[in-house]
Amino acid sequence: MENRIYLSLKREEKNIPIVFIERIEKVGEYLASFNCSDLVIFTDKMVYRLYKDFIDSLSYSYLYLFDEGEESKSIESYLKAIDYLLDRNVDRRALFVAIGGGVVGDVVGFIASTYKRGVRLIHIPTTLLSMVDSSIGGKTGINYKLYKNQIGTFYQPEMIIICPQFLGTLPKSEVLSGIGEIIKYGFTLDKSILDMKDRFENDVFEIFQDKILAMQLIKKSINCKVKVVEKDEKESLLREVLNFGHTVGHALETYYNYYFSHGIFVILGMVAEMILSNILFNFDLSNLDFLIRILEKNSIKLPQRFEKSQIISIMKYDKKNISSSIRIVLLKDVCDYVLGYEINEDILYEALDKFEKIVLS
Ligand SMILES: NC(=O)c1ccc[n+]([C@@H]2O[C@H](COP(=O)([O-])OP(=O)(O)OC[C@H]3O[C@@H](n4cnc5c(N)ncnc54)[C@H](O)[C@@H]3O)[C@@H](O)[C@H]2O)c1
Repeated sequence: MENRIYLSLKREEKNIPIVFIERIEKVGEYLASFNCSDLVIFTDKMVYRLYKDFIDSLSYSYLYLFDEGEESKSIESYLKAIDYLLDRNVDRRALFVAIGGGVVGDVVGFIASTYKRGVRLIHIPTTLLSMVDSSIGGKTGINYKLYKNQIGTFYQPEMIIICPQFLGTLPKSEVLSGIGEIIKYGFTLDKSILDMKDRFENDVFEIFQDKILAMQLIKKSINCKVKVVEKDEKESLLREVLNFGHTVGHALETYYNYYFSHGIFVILGMVAEMILSNILFNFDLSNLDFLIRILEKNSIKLPQRFEKSQIISIMKYDKKNISSSIRIVLLKDVCDYVLGYEINEDILYEALDKFEKIVLS
């Protein structure tokens, strides 16, 4: 199947290959084509447990295992990995390979961009979300204190290797999480993704039984992201569109202490931001029905507590904000977006009231 999409960054004269392969056994060949002093593989304990034979077959110098979960995006976890590399005298001609979901990708991206002022990096995403979103575009980050991604860099990898074989072991909640980001592309950048609405509503696993369809969806999503990042790598404005659903989504994720997977909070965030879009731009709320049905069918229920003032105060720390005003991406219609809208707190309260009635009742 080997085929590629390129992410072309003119300013840096970089053409980053996103390589699609059918079988994980091919990964070794790609890694062998890079000259390096040490090959350092980073993954998490869960991925290692599932893919031990494959990972051990790669000729690595060092293997570093993170605990699974968002906690690995902490400053302590970052420093522990840096100590590990320093203790082994890993130099800047090394090659780092991040095999895992968005957590491993984000923290290893940050390590690669800061260790010895930058070490080459390859992403091998293993969750649907990391294939269609987090491994593409060069954002790295760790969380600090209560807030997500407060410390980070833009750092592009040498290559991204996508192998849908990894999806075979993904639990349903993680598939749904990736679908959340895919639906976001549908509402903001590529309407044709929403033609699959009915399939998203039915059993999410079913989509991935059909390998050709799954690959088409993954590629469509990656194309959306690539086009935006090529135009606005450092998020001066256009790239904000990818944050649709994330301003409220991230705040809920922090408030509910990562109770669901990331993309599920994005679905909840899209519901809230569509309600806001309706209040401010008359966005057609019938679009919400399909998201609500997905939440219901998959028994996604938020815990009952819902303190709006606390959720809004978390939103103020969102890194998209300028000073403490809350900036948000809204929709006038499907794929007709408004970027950087500075939202008034009263309207936010009104929208969260409606959101609470729809989602928590
Ligand atoms: N950098 C970006 O542009 C960007 C974009 C979106 C999200 N993110 C970040 O990504 C993170 C979420 O990523 P995620 O959803 O991939 O979560 P994750 O990395 O926590 O992975 C979810 C779970 O799935 C397990 N897992 C990974 N691959 C598996 C496989 N093939 N089979 C079975 N289990 C597997 C992991 O061990 C983990 O327990 C968040 O921290 C979010 O902030 C970053």
